[in-house]
Amino acid sequence: MKSIELTDYGVPEQVAGCVEVPDVGPPAEHEVVFDVLAFPINPADIWFCKGEYRVRPPLPATPGAECVGRVSAVGAGVSHLRPGDLVINLQRENWAQRRRVRGEDVIAVPAAIDLGQAAMLRINPPTAALLLQDIVELRPGDWVLQNAANSAVGRLLIRLARRRGLRTVNVVRRQALAGELVALGADACVVDGPDLAAGVRAATGGAAIRLGIDAVGGAATGRIGACVADGGAVCCYGSMTGQDPVVARGDLIFRGITLSGFMLGRSLARRSLDEIRAIYAELAQQVLSGELHAPVARIYSIDEIRAALAHAQQGERSGKILVVPNGTLPARGGA
Ligand SMILES: NC(=O)c1ccc[n+]([C@@H]2O[C@H](COP(=O)([O-])OP(=O)(O)OC[C@H]3O[C@@H](n4cnc5c(N)ncnc54)[C@H](OP(=O)(O)O)[C@@H]3O)[C@@H](O)[C@H]2O)c1
Repeated sequence: MKSIELTDYGVPEQVAGCVEVPDVGPPAEHEVVFDVLAFPINPADIWFCKGEYRVRPPLPATPGAECVGRVSAVGAGVSHLRPGDLVINLQRENWAQRRRVRGEDVIAVPAAIDLGQAAMLRINPPTAALLLQDIVELRPGDWVLQNAANSAVGRLLIRLARRRGLRTVNVVRRQALAGELVALGADACVVDGPDLAAGVRAATGGAAIRLGIDAVGGAATGRIGACVADGGAVCCYGSMTGQDPVVARGDLIFRGITLSGFMLGRSLARRSLDEIRAIYAELAQQVLSGELHAPVARIYSIDEIRAALAHAQQGERSGKILVVPNGTLPARGGA
């Protein structure tokens, strides 16, 4: 079977290759085997290939934080899954044609779900949902500010916020995106720049913003900090610039804003397996109904991994890059 292997850490499209490896074999008692139908290339996968992610396993290593798969075999001790079920995997190393994992690490998703969207269900939808839940207690009518608003997380957050009656002011780096994000449910859209605070004030009528969400890092975090109300919170959950957040000490000391970080794994680790399954069940239903959706720019085969990785690092993409390890991707899972 084919798998993606990193022979070194470095420029992703140079260090990643599609190689032939031994098949995974049959499942043990508490294991399942599934065919990987699709996986996305997320910013964290790019950091992983570069050797700059929080996990940096010995080489050769297989990347891949998420995927959707179809179960082909289950061990005798696995009762919650059957061959044919669609699943997402809570564990890593998913850039391969087939996976053999512990049964408790996979979660079944509805058979009729859009497979491309299911491939992206594991990370970004719960990230967007829990950013709105775990940092600040928000009430209907509250404003939330976020940058990188055109990202998959950003777009999902707009939808989830709207559903909860929250209002979003969305920071982008291209004015051309405003119409699209407003159509999605954004209440306001502002282009980032030195005077972001004035733009945000104008867009929100000077509303007191209690939560600012940052995925850009560097000085951009500080600009989010300058927009939140006294005593408000800035939460950094990513850094598309690769820079550490820089926040004005006056905002921290005199205005009492707080700066914290969010990582999905930490948020999920505080919850029981039943709670985690409930989160995914609810999000999967919203994907199934079309309420939650992340645009896809292009789908590549597993042999084209290097082109896919290069594409995933381009700015101004029209959506995510997906890879299909086992041939073409039917739109839906079936049934
Ligand atoms: N902490 C966690 O648990 C967690 C979980 C999921 C995701 N994340 C993080 O969330 C962020 C978004 O992930 P995603 O999968 O939603 O991303 P994505 O869909 O691939 O989109 C990336 C976004 O970043 C913007 N961008 C790229 N370079 C930028 C720069 N130098 N300055 C400003 N904006 C820039 C792009 O803007 P354009 O549209 O203008 O090109 C695009 O909107 C990433 O940093 C990721 O690591 C964190």
